Amino acid sequence: MKKIVVLISGDGSNLQAIINACKKQKIFAKISAVFSDNPSAYGLKLAQKASIPIIIIPKTYIDKYSYDIFLMMKLDKYQPDLIVLAGYMRILTPYFVNNYLGKIINIHPSLLPKYPGLNTHQKALLNGDEEHGTSIHFVTNQLDSGPIILQSKVPIFPNDKIQDIITRVKTQEHIIYPLVINWFIKDRLTIINNLVFLDGCKLPKYGYLNNK
Ligand code: GAR
Repeated sequence: MKKIVVLISGDGSNLQAIINACKKQKIFAKISAVFSDNPSAYGLKLAQKASIPIIIIPKTYIDKYSYDIFLMMKLDKYQPDLIVLAGYMRILTPYFVNNYLGKIINIHPSLLPKYPGLNTHQKALLNGDEEHGTSIHFVTNQLDSGPIILQSKVPIFPNDKIQDIITRVKTQEHIIYPLVINWFIKDRLTIINNLVFLDGCKLPKYGYLNNK
């Protein structure tokens, strides 16, 4: 059975969705370990509850490169077929990314290329956007700019508060992340020359669901 390692920093609601999908065999893989840079990430409790080994490497660990070298050393013990970033809030060094190129995916709460970085929901609300969403992409050395696999859109309603938008976006994330992970696990998804292919067909610029 193929192996996934999940990296988190926070609540772990996406992690929980992935755990559930593995249990229901909607993802045909095993989560070998959950890593976190944040010792108090709630997601660590969820991993423990599911009897998944957890590895905490606190943020304070020397410099960024030493951190990633240490992370790689620990991570390689689990021989992951796929590394899943699920609310992992550290920027990975090129050293790390190049070592696992084509094997790391991330979920980012915006309709990329709009709003890379932090506070995406606030930005969408302040700008008066009528829609927002989430993107799953392969990780490359450009922050939140790797080739997009799948996006999901949600509306922003006139009286929405930030939390309404976060909840709406996360609901979509919990559906589409397990789906994409299983595509990868089933060898349906590949990246060649920065282009994403699903079942041998090149995906559009903004991924499988492209409503632009
Ligand atoms: C998710 O909404 C994810 O898109 C976002 O963090 C949240 C984690 O939630 N990721 C990023 O912002 C990465 N740039 P969770 O801990 O409940 O899964």
